[in-house]
Amino acid sequence: MIRTVATTPFEGQKPGTSGLRKKVRVFQQDNYAENFIQAVFDAVSPPRGAVLVIGGDGRFHNRAVIQQAIRMAAANGYGRVLAGAGGILSTPAASHVIRKHQASGGLILSASHNPGGPDEDFGIKYNVANGGPAPESVTEAIYVRTQTIDRWLTVDWADIDLDKPGVVTVAGMVVEVIDPVADYADLMESLFDFVAIRAAVSDGMTMCFDAMHAVTGPYAHEILERRLGFRAGTVHNGTPIEDFGGHHPDPNLVHAKVLYDLMMSPEAPVLGAASDGDGDRNLIIGKNRFVTPSDSLAMLAANAHLAPAYAGGLKGIARSMPTSAAADRVAQALGLPSFETPTGWKFFGNLLDAGMATICGEESAGTGSDHVREKDGLWAVLLWLNVLAVRRISVDDLAREHWATYGRNYYARHDYEAIETEKANALMAELTGGLDALAGREFGALKVAAADSFAYVDPVDGSVSRNQGVRVMFAGGSRIVFRLSGTGTEGATLRVYLERYEPVDGKLDEPVSAMLGELIAAAEAIAGIVRHTGRTAPDVVT
Ligand code: G6P
Ligand code: ZN
Repeated sequence: MIRTVATTPFEGQKPGTSGLRKKVRVFQQDNYAENFIQAVFDAVSPPRGAVLVIGGDGRFHNRAVIQQAIRMAAANGYGRVLAGAGGILSTPAASHVIRKHQASGGLILSASHNPGGPDEDFGIKYNVANGGPAPESVTEAIYVRTQTIDRWLTVDWADIDLDKPGVVTVAGMVVEVIDPVADYADLMESLFDFVAIRAAVSDGMTMCFDAMHAVTGPYAHEILERRLGFRAGTVHNGTPIEDFGGHHPDPNLVHAKVLYDLMMSPEAPVLGAASDGDGDRNLIIGKNRFVTPSDSLAMLAANAHLAPAYAGGLKGIARSMPTSAAADRVAQALGLPSFETPTGWKFFGNLLDAGMATICGEESAGTGSDHVREKDGLWAVLLWLNVLAVRRISVDDLAREHWATYGRNYYARHDYEAIETEKANALMAELTGGLDALAGREFGALKVAAADSFAYVDPVDGSVSRNQGVRVMFAGGSRIVFRLSGTGTEGATLRVYLERYEPVDGKLDEPVSAMLGELIAAAEAIAGIVRHTGRTAPDVVT
């Protein structure tokens, strides 16, 4: 029954930080998605009868690729496929389903927070048996295979009914169309104190969750409205749409502006939150208080023991290098190990698998724990709700209390987008070349304590990752980080991360921009951004 289709390689099928991401039109070319999926199967050579999970964020082209991937899985010897009904599985839910059903891996079809639709983005990512993104050894093997691929395998079989949960067979392989929400919602209920949250809801705790017409809608309806009792209408934009209603499903202050405005208004509920296209990022805003992802990580770590899953304490706290050091101060106070990893969730995988860290987070709006091997947007929202419900405190009061205990790491990220690659590289090269001369130099009241190009030695497997961004550390705990984005599609994006530490007896509630002025000037003096790029202001400030 297996049919072999001849093909030739496509250039550039190299998986990036989060799989292969291209325009939909690129994926729609004959053989394009098939070549990549076959390269995955060839590279991982699944044992006969292995289980494969398939799901996506519901964006345009999702269903077509899922149907094709099911036929190809049958031809490649898989024994069972678990597919989310409607083609839906959020990234953290897919990670959980892989782990729970002991699958050999999973295909996650998503371009995360990028826009969707016929002229927008699509992506395919392969996750391995621990539920996490494939490590570099695997993605490299996939890429190598895409360069020589000359055939892909399929079976002649009609599309299955993806909308009907139940079991069918495709050329002898079992396909289970599963409720995409149930397993995940059960997991959340096992981690958090739903009784306490329900009690707070009936006492008047309110929230607004913006699903951005992306994958978290069905999850949020089930968990927030049905299981936790938030009133109907708590979830906004809760129906996944193939083009996300024409918006960017990116939960930041630019693309979730409606939510932000609500949270700054007199009608604001207790908590405002949003998640991205595939459900792994989160945005947290209290009434009149935006919480940066770096602060959110620190505040959640400090209060995690209030949730049943973390009541026994944390094993360690990990953050990516550009994420502020706020979480380190919590780790220190709790006597826990803390880890500083390169940007990218995959670097947390070893720490989580080895039981060295329990909670991880990134400045790029990702937070998560050892419950899955992806960052998890709704998990972060639920941990916030759990903490607020038990403590009966507002987000703003919790933030102020946190800063009064640990001091405050004022923080902002300045992005300079679509710079000519050569100019961006020249800036980074000059910066790196001048690092040794920086120590001891003064920029206004700031004195450089140390400066380096960040390298990471994985404490579990000893692997070394160099050139992960430039760190300039100042006396007193302030810091500037310079790094080129690893996810851009056009030219280069320079990210400048600004962090100013104010101790507990310092200025804890000032406007962020005012507090960062001196650091912004120092960043210009150190890196020569205007001179190299001609840009006098960042394109995006988050
Ligand atoms: C993806 C990864 C994140 C990472 C982010 C960095 O979203 O999943 O783990 O933090 O990319 O993006 P950047 O553009 O800064 O390289
Ligand atoms: Zn995402």
